[in-house]
Amino acid sequence: MSELKGLILAGGEGTRLRPITHTSAKQLVPVANKPVLFYGIEALVAAGITQIGVIVAPQTAAEIEAAAGSGERFGAQITYIPQQAPLGLAHAVLTAEPFLGESSFVMYLGDNLLQGGIQDLVAAFRASAPDALILLTPVDDPESYGVAELASAPGGAMRVVRLIEKPKQPPSDLALVGVYMFTARIHAAARSISPSARGELEITDAIQSIIDGGGRVEPHIVEGWWKDTGRLEDMLEANRLILDAIGASLEGELVETTVEGRVQVAAGARLLRTRVRGPAIIGAGAQISDCYIGPYTAIGDGCTLERAEVEHSILLAGCSISDIDGRIESSLLGRNVRIGRDRGAPRAYRFMVGDNSEVAIP
Ligand code: DAU
Repeated sequence: MSELKGLILAGGEGTRLRPITHTSAKQLVPVANKPVLFYGIEALVAAGITQIGVIVAPQTAAEIEAAAGSGERFGAQITYIPQQAPLGLAHAVLTAEPFLGESSFVMYLGDNLLQGGIQDLVAAFRASAPDALILLTPVDDPESYGVAELASAPGGAMRVVRLIEKPKQPPSDLALVGVYMFTARIHAAARSISPSARGELEITDAIQSIIDGGGRVEPHIVEGWWKDTGRLEDMLEANRLILDAIGASLEGELVETTVEGRVQVAAGARLLRTRVRGPAIIGAGAQISDCYIGPYTAIGDGCTLERAEVEHSILLAGCSISDIDGRIESSLLGRNVRIGRDRGAPRAYRFMVGDNSEVAIP
């Protein structure tokens, strides 16, 4: 088999994470202080795939290119492929056709996180050489995803016989995880379909066209967790799952500070009279004094926190929080958000605040 390529889809509009993604790409929102997109790039590289195309939208192309660069630091070569409008996953594949050529490839949705990596998937694809291989996992709400119906083929192996995008009456609970493997046959299939009711060229329809044309599409059930990080709750859950697996490393300066459990403090961060209960991660240059940082918290680079309590939350770079009486919980703060307090009784707060906001609590 010729060399496999990778295609990461980092276009689209990101409406579900607004206001966070009004000013930035949803694929760059960090999980445990690392952009979601980077986990996908790293998963491809770990599976030996280094020629990677990244689909980008015109509004966020510059920001994504500035963040991921040439790919050198991942050990990859990244080619950025602009998609003029988010016309669907199959449209993204057609847009990338000049880059992909005749190669088989892994398609990875840039807002997805997959715990177990993709090495097994790539090995299965190489071993049985199907026309396409899709990753599936059982979910409680299959109507929110593409759903697959399986049947056993002669000889007993399972085959995909039907795929439906966000069905009202799902034929199974097996959702399509945002990672797929294709041969070049997908291009003709993507050209053969029409836009769906939501106006997109659906990858599920393109795969169905391969099946209908007699092609072999194999299922692969995911082991370990998978998250589509498109919504606030999913971001926090992904943050929790990634932080659950981090190791401890204390590079910053800790003064009269106690740290319990697995905590990472990046170089240049300074913690004063603070208690941190891991798992938690604190970014480079953060300045934290007289605070409590609870489990499952990711504090971005350059944040400043004074006399505040934060738990189970994601703070993007440059946030500043001071004098909060009560605990900030299960919150996602965009970049450079400022939260201060004038006076008032202790209470609990929950925020989803966009970049450059300012919150003054009475
Ligand atoms: O998360 C898994 C689900 O992803 C699958 O179960 C569905 O079958 C699949 O259609 C997809 O559904 P979503 O509605 O969640 O896709 P979304 O619009 O969020 O796009 C997924 C990624 O692809 C995201 O990083 C944006 C990017 N994208 C999307 C479109 C529509 C593009 O790069 N170009 C596009 O045209």
